[in-house]
Amino acid sequence: MTELIDDRWLSELAQAGHVLVLTGAGMSAESGISTFRDKRQGLWAKYRPEDLATPEAFAANPSHVWDWYQWRREKLRDVQPHAGYFALAEVETLLPDLHIVTQNVDGLHRASGSRQVIELHGNIRRSICSATKRLIDDDWITSHADSPPPSPHAKGAYARPDVVWFGESLPEDALNQAWRLARQADVILSVGTSALVQPAASLPIIGVQAGAVLIEINPEPTPLSAQAHHVLRASAGTALPAIARALAQGR
Ligand code: OAD
Repeated sequence: MTELIDDRWLSELAQAGHVLVLTGAGMSAESGISTFRDKRQGLWAKYRPEDLATPEAFAANPSHVWDWYQWRREKLRDVQPHAGYFALAEVETLLPDLHIVTQNVDGLHRASGSRQVIELHGNIRRSICSATKRLIDDDWITSHADSPPPSPHAKGAYARPDVVWFGESLPEDALNQAWRLARQADVILSVGTSALVQPAASLPIIGVQAGAVLIEINPEPTPLSAQAHHVLRASAGTALPAIARALAQGR
């Protein structure tokens, strides 16, 4: 067993009936995807969210916003889930009831085999109609060279990425499920999130108030750290495989 792993919380995790894993951009950092708030490399250090990630920005300059998301989609093509992702999928097979609630839009949890995944902020690989929010087929997008393509669902509307922008509501079903999972969790793992963006940042707090044990995996401190029962100052790609190995050996 590596020194990262502490027997006390490992047995709490092994015996937990319900486990919630909240993930953020740090979960994908070791796959080569930029986080948002890293002081140098973070997307919000290089770009202004108000120019790219709000409905107002899209209304003012749809092609600028669409092109930025196309650039991010292109970068995702070569990206592979790292060992921490596969470890989390393995942990799901070892524990009776584990759900992942992710703020990430890259789809890497499902790509690495996790099954119970709730995407709170949408999925950048999908497109929706800017007026009706109905899904638009990939074939429609690739057969239109326009930036952005027109929407097939409403006259004068455009295709836009299926992600939640600042000022928009989160998908209601996903949010309700996430809330329910937080309240019923015995253990919550918070992995790679700065815990600065609501409502996702409240999920671990709600869980702790309802009696959950909170374990944080993050190389840096966050506002959650003080409330966490156990803190692993390690990367997702190091900590999650160590946890999966320790759980598998304990059985
Ligand atoms: P942030 O960029 O705010 O935070 C990333 C966190 O990951 C930081 O706390 C880092 O210390 C940590 N981190 C970095 N590398 C790591 C690694 N290898 N392993 C583990 N942790 C690591 O990203 P989020 O918290 O996901 O919203 O940001 C939340 C939301 O803000 C995003 O979903 C996005 C953004 O604006 C929307 O786009 C709606």
